Amino acid sequence: MSNISVEGVTKEFGDTVALRDVSFTVPDGEFVIVLGVSGSGKSTLLRCMNGLTSPTDGEIRVDGTPVDSPRKDIAMIFQQHNIIGQMSAYSNALTGSLSRTDFLRSVFQLQSDEEKHRALEALDTVGLLGESQKRARQMSGGQQQRVGIARALVQQPNILLADEPVASLDPGSSQQVMRYLRQAAAERGLTTVISLHQVNLARKFGERFIGLRDGELVFDGYRDEFTMDVIDRIYGDIDTEGMFEADSDGDADEQVVSE
Ligand SMILES: Nc1ncnc2c1ncn2[C@@H]1O[C@H](COP(=O)(O)OP(=O)(O)O)[C@@H](O)[C@H]1O
Ligand SMILES: [Mg+2]
Repeated sequence: MSNISVEGVTKEFGDTVALRDVSFTVPDGEFVIVLGVSGSGKSTLLRCMNGLTSPTDGEIRVDGTPVDSPRKDIAMIFQQHNIIGQMSAYSNALTGSLSRTDFLRSVFQLQSDEEKHRALEALDTVGLLGESQKRARQMSGGQQQRVGIARALVQQPNILLADEPVASLDPGSSQQVMRYLRQAAAERGLTTVISLHQVNLARKFGERFIGLRDGELVFDGYRDEFTMDVIDRIYGDIDTEGMFEADSDGDADEQVVSE
């Protein structure tokens, strides 16, 4: 269990201010969705939170300790999962961490029984236990992303960060992946921050929302405060129509935006 706090974080790339004085704290076990259009600073925020990038100003802290490089207790899931097509779902999950040593150990199957057990458990969490021996390249994009989630879980993180984990998936697979992410986070009590650009997915799965616009935090609040006005504040004049993707399973509660 861990909390993570973003304290006055500014990140500049030359003249571009990607994040401007952003502050918020995510308590133990909370599930947060970061929303914003392309270029609003979502990836930069998550990369700072993971220690992949250092803020120009301000600080990230996990349980009070500054984060200045990637750490094993913070797992990251990307849009482009580095899944290896020739390897089985199980072997991919077993690679757990991205370090070269771990990778070689997995190729030569030098993991302990405990690690193997964890990989199977993680595949079970994402509903792929039955497919564990299937080669990743024979799986759908959504299944591959679930393997990516399993691989992150094998790392036994306290904090899970996901940068647009469903951006390249169709609406049906996106919902399924979000469902598994939320379930994994709840089952394991993970502190979770996921960036998304689709408002409907955010509304369906989120508890707390952080809105970024041009690198500034323009909203931080819970479901009941996440109104159309707030969506306007985050998306401004941008036409959000395309972001309310058609829902594939037709649940009534997915028709979230009414005038
Ligand atoms: N490595 C980089 N070098 C220069 N500019 C960058 C870099 N990374 C991001 N930016 C800029 O920072 C801003 C925020 O980008 P990003 O965090 O990728 O937003 P998002 O993930 O919401 O699309 C954009 O203007 C982007 O062009
Ligand atoms: Mg991004």
